[in-house]
Amino acid sequence: MSLTVASIESDKKAALSALLNAGNLDDLKMARLAHVGDKSPLAKANQALGSLPGSERAEFGKVIGAARAEVNSAYGEREEFLIGERDSKILAAERVDVSLPTKRGSVGGLHPLTILTNEISDLFVGLGYTVAEGPELESGWLNFDALNIPADHPARTMQDTFFVEPLDSGLVMRTHTSPVQIRTMLDRKPPIYVICPGRTYRADELDATHTPVFNQVEGLVIDKGITMAHLKGTLDFFAAKMFGPDVTTRIRPSFFPFTEPSAEVDFFYRGRWVEWGGCGMVNPKVLQACGVDTDEYSGFAFGMGLERTLMVRHGIADMHDIVEGDIRFSQAFGTGTR
Ligand code: DAH
Repeated sequence: MSLTVASIESDKKAALSALLNAGNLDDLKMARLAHVGDKSPLAKANQALGSLPGSERAEFGKVIGAARAEVNSAYGEREEFLIGERDSKILAAERVDVSLPTKRGSVGGLHPLTILTNEISDLFVGLGYTVAEGPELESGWLNFDALNIPADHPARTMQDTFFVEPLDSGLVMRTHTSPVQIRTMLDRKPPIYVICPGRTYRADELDATHTPVFNQVEGLVIDKGITMAHLKGTLDFFAAKMFGPDVTTRIRPSFFPFTEPSAEVDFFYRGRWVEWGGCGMVNPKVLQACGVDTDEYSGFAFGMGLERTLMVRHGIADMHDIVEGDIRFSQAFGTGTR
C-alpha cells in the first residue's frame, strides 16, 4: 500500500462527508463502520505505517493522526446532534396533553337502602346486638300464628298477604320481619339482643308511598328485668342516630297481637311528629310459646320500615325513586362515581 498525503486527505474528506450526510443514527452507524472503525481506510493507513522507513513513518504518522482526530471529533459531534434530534422527535410523539378530559367510567355502588341497612346493623352491633336473618318465603305459622295473629286477623286476608301456591303448603311471602323474633327465640336461649333488617312483602300497588316489596328492621331484646323504659331509651338512641342528635321519640298506645302493651312510635323531625313503626313488650303468650320462662324473662320488640326512614331522612318524596333503579338517584348518595 502506498501512502500519500493526498490519499490520506481524500480518505478524510470521504469520512467527513459520510458522517455529515448520515441522516439518522442507523446511517451514522454504517458511516462509522466504513470510515472510523478498524476497517476504515484511515485505520488501514495507520496499520501500514509499520512498514515505512523511520523518517517517513513519523511524517505520515502525524498526518494520519491529525486526520483521524478530525474524523473522530466529527463523528462525536454528529452523534450528539442525531441523538438530540431523535430524542426531541420521541418527546413530541409521546407528548401527553394533561388538560384533555379523561374517560369517566362508573363503578358499582351500594343502593342507598343497602347503605342504610348496613348502617343500622353496625349501630346495633355496637350496642352488643347480633344481626339475625330469616327467609323471605316463610311459613304462615311463623309469620302469623306463632305471633298470636289469629286466623281471622285482617293482616291475613288475601289483599295483604302474598300466599304461595300450592295454598295448602302454608307458605307466604313474609309480611313483616317479626317471624324472625320467633325463629330467634326458638333457636337461642336468653339473654337475646338481635336486630333483623330484611325484605318484606305485601299486596300493595306501587305508588308514591307504597311498594309491594319493602324493607323493615326488627329489634328484639329478651333479658331479666327488661321494661318499657329500656324500649324507649333504645328507640331514642336509634332515632337520634338516624335523624340527628336532638331527635326524640314518643310512643302512643296501640295494638299488636304479639306485644302487650303495644305502642306506635313516632319521632319529632323538623317541627312535626312522623310515624315510624310499632313496638311493645313481647306478649307473654308469645314468649311462652317459644319456651321462654316468663317468671324470669321479659322483653321488648320494635319494627319499622326502612324506605320510610330513608325517605324522611333524605327528603325523598316518591317511593318510585327508591325502587326504580335510576342511577341519577343512587349517584346523589355518592354511589357509582369515581
Ligand atoms: N310487625 C309489625 C308490622 O309489620 C311492626 C311491629 C310492631 C314490629 C310491633 C314489632 C312490634 O316488633 O313489637 O306492622
